Amino acid sequence: NDIGPQDKGFLNEYHGFWIPALATSGVIASQKYFQARDTDILLVTPPKVGTTWSKAILFALMNRIHYQDLQEHPLLTKIPHDLVPLLEGDIYTKKKVHDLNPAFPRLLSTHLPYVLLPTSVKDSTCKIVYVYRNAKDTFVSLWHFQNRLYPTTASLEEAFNKFCKGMSPFGSYWDHVLSCWKKSIQNPGRKMLFLKYEEMKEQPTTYLKRIAEFLDCPFSPEEEAKGTVNDISSLCSFDNLSNLDVNKSRKWCLPDHKMTLFSQGVDNAAFFRQGQTGDWVNYLTSEMTEKLDHIIEEKFHGIGLKF
Ligand code: A3P
Repeated sequence: NDIGPQDKGFLNEYHGFWIPALATSGVIASQKYFQARDTDILLVTPPKVGTTWSKAILFALMNRIHYQDLQEHPLLTKIPHDLVPLLEGDIYTKKKVHDLNPAFPRLLSTHLPYVLLPTSVKDSTCKIVYVYRNAKDTFVSLWHFQNRLYPTTASLEEAFNKFCKGMSPFGSYWDHVLSCWKKSIQNPGRKMLFLKYEEMKEQPTTYLKRIAEFLDCPFSPEEEAKGTVNDISSLCSFDNLSNLDVNKSRKWCLPDHKMTLFSQGVDNAAFFRQGQTGDWVNYLTSEMTEKLDHIIEEKFHGIGLKF
């Protein structure tokens, strides 16, 4: 890697993936110590594919019985990252998993690709919700986020070339997606739900119902009649979350400052930029588009995953 280790964007190559240097110890500790339970729900995402949104959705679905009065809902006062801890960030920097998430079943998240997940996760029957997104929008979202996190002197072109070489946090992006997708094909008994950001944007209520069924908490006819599906969809929508004070003004950072990836924190607002699909057309040249299309075609051809 040509970025110095003092740079907060420095990536370590680790078992074929690029892990942010400051997250590496959290990754190793998660692999070593995390004890999954069969009842756990694990959200697995590459960065910038809609992790924050998915956390909000999963939390709202799983806890809806406790928060029937939406005016009292924790999502109105807490960023979703404070409600659903990140394994290699929140949990294995300072606190242990049971300190952070006493709820049952436990809802956790990770940016680790399937092959790097702790063995206890792979050996368990815990459910995995995997979210992915159009690679071009993912890159553009990452570019903006990284610029807010540690303003870089790298140009968009340089960042793009790195992304294409696979050098993105927890990337390569395609191997992240493929690693989980292949596992789900090889092992159909493994409980995994694949969600695509663009499809969730298009049909949020359809996907809410699908996710609720996967989580074994389907909507009852009474809930459907009361409009609970629409209520949760609106609660978790970009318009709602991005306009909440908590998500506009506060600074977000991981609990252990010494080991945190975001040692100076970042505004919560950095997680809510546009929330749209197709913004890449405003950033990528036709050569860039061709290059990425070529990579996607090469990597995903014939594997049965709509990219
Ligand atoms: P953009 O940068 O394209 O706007 P992550 O949470 O994995 O970091 O992903 C961030 C991306 O998800 C950002 O994309 C952000 O705007 C978008 N996002 C955040 N909340 C969302 C929501 N409620 N609905 C749809 N997209 C959302």
